[in-house]
Amino acid sequence: MRKPFIAGNWKMNTDINSAVELAKALAEKSVDALIDNKITVAVCPPSVYLSSVAAALSSSSVGLGAQNVYFEAKGAFTGEVSVSMLKDVGCTYTLIGHSERRHIFGETNEMVNKKVHAAISGGLLPVLCVGELLEEREASKTEEVIKTQIVKGLEGIDAAKMQAITIAYEPVWAIGTGLTASPQQAQEVHAFIRSLLVDLYDTNLAEEIRIQYGGSAKASNAAELLSKKDVDGLLVGGASLKADDFMGIIEAAL
Ligand code: PGA
Repeated sequence: MRKPFIAGNWKMNTDINSAVELAKALAEKSVDALIDNKITVAVCPPSVYLSSVAAALSSSSVGLGAQNVYFEAKGAFTGEVSVSMLKDVGCTYTLIGHSERRHIFGETNEMVNKKVHAAISGGLLPVLCVGELLEEREASKTEEVIKTQIVKGLEGIDAAKMQAITIAYEPVWAIGTGLTASPQQAQEVHAFIRSLLVDLYDTNLAEEIRIQYGGSAKASNAAELLSKKDVDGLLVGGASLKADDFMGIIEAAL
């Protein structure tokens, strides 16, 4: 059985006070009772607030993740943050290859792959994000795009390392647009991703890997998305910025 994994991606939102308040609200809203080892929950605040959010979450089992990481260990990489730095401030997870990183900041599959390797070697659990653009879906290229992102993103990752990874399927046309993929559309791509994992690894491992859906997920559509066989969790942007909304999603996953 794959344990549902609900993660909040705060993106470049909140300020120090609202970030801490949001984290405290999640810690206090008896999320722990809800989590009770039946579900994994994490939040990914802006990197400058990671330490403060870590402190606010310290007595809760809500995990902490970064939104991005650099693959080099240290040195002259102005503006970047390393795996060990994220570990220092209490991160367990890091998103890698979010579509905004790929499409706004030009991250390539090769960079994504280096980040996946660096994260796992340094002890962070990557959430590898993949997803097609609207024009790619309309040109029936969804599977081709996803396959390239998965195969290249996981190049050189052996079965043991693969255990550390969560995959997030986030169709770019559904992110922040209010357009959610239908549960059926999500299921089709999730099943396709799992079939790729069977080819790359084996059936047993493919069955263990959690695949989150992301793209305008909210409390009102969470249960239906999560009811699909291969949808194992949600990566939530906008609806993770209010404690009640995010709690509603967590409850839908229980
Ligand atoms: P959204 O973002 O829920 O606001 O669509 C999801 C994401 O980008 O992770």
